[in-house]
Amino acid sequence: MNIYKAINKQTVCLGQYKIVPIRFEDRYSILEWRNEQMYHLRQKEKISKNEQDNYFNTVVKNLFLEENPPQFLFSYLKNEKCIGYGGLVHINWKKKEAEISFIMQTILEKEQFDFNWSMFLVLIEKIAFIDLNLSKINTYAFDLRPHLYPVLINNGFTEEKRLKHHVEIDSKKTDVLIHSKLNKGFNLRPATIDDEEITYNWATDSVIRKYAFQQNEIKKQEHKNWFLNQLKNEKCVYFILMDNNKQIGSIRFNIEENKTALISYLIDSKHHGKGYGKRILQEAIFCFKRIKKEVESIHGYVMPENIASCKIFEKLNFEKQEQKDSIKYFYQF
Ligand SMILES: CC(C)(COP(=O)(O)OP(=O)(O)OC[C@H]1O[C@@H](n2cnc3c(N)ncnc32)[C@H](O)[C@@H]1OP(=O)(O)O)[C@@H](O)C(=O)NCCC(=O)NCCS
Repeated sequence: MNIYKAINKQTVCLGQYKIVPIRFEDRYSILEWRNEQMYHLRQKEKISKNEQDNYFNTVVKNLFLEENPPQFLFSYLKNEKCIGYGGLVHINWKKKEAEISFIMQTILEKEQFDFNWSMFLVLIEKIAFIDLNLSKINTYAFDLRPHLYPVLINNGFTEEKRLKHHVEIDSKKTDVLIHSKLNKGFNLRPATIDDEEITYNWATDSVIRKYAFQQNEIKKQEHKNWFLNQLKNEKCVYFILMDNNKQIGSIRFNIEENKTALISYLIDSKHHGKGYGKRILQEAIFCFKRIKKEVESIHGYVMPENIASCKIFEKLNFEKQEQKDSIKYFYQF
């Protein structure tokens, strides 16, 4: 695998999807998609295989050698198969800003445009905001694909600028739209092996355990086995909430029968009462639905004495069903 010097974690994955430093073996698929989608790219002529080889052997190869390359390119994979590519380009190292580029396999544009754009943004933001600690990322788009804008807005971008009649396409003056997103130091990322210890500390913290339905003692090895199984389990989506590069809490969705998922979430007891509980649930629901579109409802069980959690579910418009010794909160997408 190629390695970027400036990045610690070279790959980011979520479920079946991941980004890895751009693979040479993907260069002809990329060439095909670029040639098919020239209309929205800053590419004037079709690229030949020779030109693509040349680009990979010179420009791309050099990106791996530089301390501060002008761009980071990634192959976007589903189950190891490349279905798109993109990255952080036109990086301004002084201002800590970069532009996002992304194109997906042309046939996916029709049915899975929103999903793949959202997934790519979730993954690339981990590199941009966590690993590189950039302060701002933006997209630069010819005003030809209005269906891109809601995807960006849903992912926390805002329209920053419209450059009127900025480019000429097929003899027609066309606007360019710039959407941007600031690094607020607050985000969700997928749980990884490195979270084993913190999740063990949380699972054994008496303040957090107070309202847990199971009160048995948790041994470290038991937790390790359980945790690694959750990470491997395709029916589990597990996020960690980060603030200023610190782990603040976790949220897990375990998909059950009937297209529903069970929610478990917690906030580090040092940070209770600061509004993180509501934010983690709110943000995670959104990310979860983007990844597991097939799931139709989600639910969580809460002890009636757990006022903070009851308030959070209610504020987020979950339906309430009183049960024998718990309250079931239920949300239909
Ligand atoms: C439930 C939990 C995630 C809440 O996290 P949090 O970050 O402390 O919650 P927030 O700060 O977002 O507060 C949510 C609401 O509860 C209120 N609240 C917080 N702690 C409270 C307490 N001890 N008693 C009463 N209300 C409380 C807040 O004021 C806020 O209400 P508001 O929006 O009307 O102001 C956290 O307490 C926790 O980790 N508990 C252990 C695990 C758990 O119970 N998980 C949920 C079961 S699935």
